[in-house]
Amino acid sequence: MSHTQQYAISEYPDVADIYRRLEELVSQPMRQVREERMREYLAYFDKKCVRSKVLTDEAKRFIPGGVQHNLAFNYPFPIAIEKAEGAYLWDVDGNKYIDFLQAGAPIVLGSNYAPVRDKVIELLHSCGPVTGLFHEYELKLAELINRYMPAVEMFRMLGSGTESVMAAIRAARVFTQKKKVIKVGGAYHGWSDSMVFGMHIPGTGRMEATGIPNGATANTQEFYPNDLVALKKRLIANRRAGGTAAVIVEPVGPESGTRPVPFDFNAKVRSLCDEFGALLIFDEVVTGFRLGMGGAQGYFGVKPDITIFGKCVTGGYPMAGGVGGRADVIQCFAAGIGGKTGERAYIGGTLSANPLSCVAGYYALLEMERTNAPVIAGRAGDRLTKGLQGIIKRLKLPFVVYSQGSIVHLETSGVMLLDFKNVDRLLKEMNPRKHMIEEMGAAYMANGIITLAGSRVYTSMADTDAVIDEALRRFEAVFSSIEGV
Ligand SMILES: Cc1ncc(COP(=O)(O)O)c(C=O)c1O
Repeated sequence: MSHTQQYAISEYPDVADIYRRLEELVSQPMRQVREERMREYLAYFDKKCVRSKVLTDEAKRFIPGGVQHNLAFNYPFPIAIEKAEGAYLWDVDGNKYIDFLQAGAPIVLGSNYAPVRDKVIELLHSCGPVTGLFHEYELKLAELINRYMPAVEMFRMLGSGTESVMAAIRAARVFTQKKKVIKVGGAYHGWSDSMVFGMHIPGTGRMEATGIPNGATANTQEFYPNDLVALKKRLIANRRAGGTAAVIVEPVGPESGTRPVPFDFNAKVRSLCDEFGALLIFDEVVTGFRLGMGGAQGYFGVKPDITIFGKCVTGGYPMAGGVGGRADVIQCFAAGIGGKTGERAYIGGTLSANPLSCVAGYYALLEMERTNAPVIAGRAGDRLTKGLQGIIKRLKLPFVVYSQGSIVHLETSGVMLLDFKNVDRLLKEMNPRKHMIEEMGAAYMANGIITLAGSRVYTSMADTDAVIDEALRRFEAVFSSIEGV
């Protein structure tokens, strides 16, 4: 770990203990909110979220499913947000919530942070959001990222994490002249054709690949989380069949650490990549700047060949994506100038690297550095985690809470931990446990807290001790309404 930078994780979690407790959680019957209390929580939506219901019902006529973002598919119905500021969100019915979604991780400074917004508005007045030509902020942002993450010698900005993963894989294939890409089962790397594979649940391969031809995933492979022996076996088998272009990991573990990795995991994957001539891709879409200005690569002290950015790279402003890394690899995007093979990897995007995204990213990152936001957000995550662990212990609940800085995992149903190692349990329990977290999400929301899918919490710099303590009181109200408490 770099000693010149500070990181959001104050103490690395005891990963073996987390898995033991998660296994205990999924081996016992669910502990849900008592029926009569759940009815009360659901009544909140009918009474207090009337306009949200009208809007999102009407939206179903014009928008498939009524909402456009997976995170917005809330139970019993989506709520429409009107205002965001700091640690809070307000819906269209005027209800105020503590915002632990943070847009799904992009926001570390707190919502709608004025100093960044002011810079964006200034730029909009001078040149508008886009011109199609070069803008100085592209250079400023690329230089800044290189200062925080020296392994990112060159950076190409794109529109999303999904696109950036596509570009990274293309660059790895051009550079290594190999095809196979190995990912960790359960990890999420966006929704491109080749990556809708082994998503969410390890071992599911093409289960969610509806609309994707077999050929598109023919060179994608997965290995079971943390199973380095399985990874090595894949690399050996691939060597006999033309080789591995890249191994791609979320450095804190699949689904932002839902299945956390031991501290030395990334270093070991690095060694295996070196042994087999594969490039190491860090998907830092969530960890990039949330764990610290040096990202997960700085925290773990492991140098990836390619880094993928998203979310925080624009501080929550649109067109958040980018791919960077070794100059000799990333150079392949430069229209054939100076690339190792001279081959060009084609990428594009009309609005990629637009002035608005670049100015937002530049000032968001500078402000995060100036204010030490990742560390402050991490300490808020610690306070919340410790508080939740205390409540759970006191109420003798089997729930599992742990954090990696400002990424807090709150497992009450354990659905994300079901997998093909126990198929009967998976088939029997997946839907009921999934419904349980929907209900937990609704219960939190009825108590004024918005989480990510009822099982993850992102904290930000705006989460003062007072905000966290208020959140803990609200979580305790929900946990007190669990069966058997
Ligand atoms: C680790 C990771 N990679 C890639 C993506 C895809 O990024 P985007 O939603 O910007 O396409 C996400 C999105 O949540 C992510 O968490």
